[in-house]
Amino acid sequence: MAARAVKTNPLSPDVEQLLSAISEARERTLELVAHLSEAELEAVHSPIMSPLVWDLGHIAAYEDLWLAHRRGGLELLRPDLAGLYDAFETPRAVRGEIEALDPEQARAYMAEVRERTVATLAREGLGDGVVCEMVLRHELQHTETMRQTMAIAGLLPAGEAQLQPARTPEGWLEVPAGPFEMGARPEAFSFDNERPRHMATTGAFAIARRPVSNGSWMSFSEGGGYERREWWSDEGWAWKQEYDITHHPDVAAGHPQAPACHVSWFEADAFARAHAARLPTEAEWEKAATWTQDAGGGLAAVGQVWEWTASHFGGYPGFAAHPYREYSEVFFGESYRVLRGASWATHPRAASITFRNWDLPQRRQIFAGVRIARGL
Ligand code: AVJ
Ligand code: FE
Repeated sequence: MAARAVKTNPLSPDVEQLLSAISEARERTLELVAHLSEAELEAVHSPIMSPLVWDLGHIAAYEDLWLAHRRGGLELLRPDLAGLYDAFETPRAVRGEIEALDPEQARAYMAEVRERTVATLAREGLGDGVVCEMVLRHELQHTETMRQTMAIAGLLPAGEAQLQPARTPEGWLEVPAGPFEMGARPEAFSFDNERPRHMATTGAFAIARRPVSNGSWMSFSEGGGYERREWWSDEGWAWKQEYDITHHPDVAAGHPQAPACHVSWFEADAFARAHAARLPTEAEWEKAATWTQDAGGGLAAVGQVWEWTASHFGGYPGFAAHPYREYSEVFFGESYRVLRGASWATHPRAASITFRNWDLPQRRQIFAGVRIARGL
């Protein structure tokens, strides 16, 4: 047949799959901001967030650096932009002032980088696939960050952030003491901070079957939650006093049975103490999330709001930064607290039961709630 005579160079199935995943991710990214004006894209909506157009340029710059440049060996498409779109050289606080790309230019840059990506992957293949998956998830993570910015600015499309009332009753899941395997299995992609999988152990503990609801938060608040000194850590109390935090701004508007969202770690910690409980450690959270010998169904409603844990962000025993050193390691230490699970804004490909998210304890822009625990 004539068609057979044309020599084509077909893409391997793994390259084809990745290309379709990254193009689908890109469609969603562009769709997310399609209804926004140039001014809305360029504005600084919050001092702790980037202008949305910065996220767009950064997504493209990251892709160009890791795929066309590092994997494909090409010069950067726009070496002049590398510093402006580097998260460390240009921190969030100054991203409103810099002369970077305007929205139209940013969209064009994204498209041009993508052409180089497609050519690079067609030529080089995926290799071990790690860098390609990292670039894809990076874009997915930034669309969640962009949704946080849009939530602050009141720019989320109506109905996007409607949290659903939980269908499972409240109650506790009891988990016995003992070891379990913590961290990502080596076969599939994971971030460096999820590795290596190792034995961890916990005491016996109980963990709430579902995250705290708006209704419970209202009771906490009305019961003096923001006034009772004994429920707050020293750091949390100081933050509350300095910023005159007297209530949670969103819970009253939400469905009483839906999970409370935009909770800071300081508030989550105080809520737990007010209920003679505490936040689960990361090990407890992961053990409970994988606990299958339980007739009651384990943890409910994982995936609507991130869940704060008691743990500081650090490396597992034997941690090795890979391949992007600035992804995790620079945040290890006493400042950041770990969140587990995922939120309504998290793409399913961007998180898992071993995924570790992190932020500062005073932050409220995350779609974060709280699940409480207690020792047994
Ligand atoms: C994993 C969500 C904490 O946004 O700081 C994006 C993800 N890293 N670009 C962040 C990330 C570099 C990261 N979090
Ligand atoms: Fe980034």
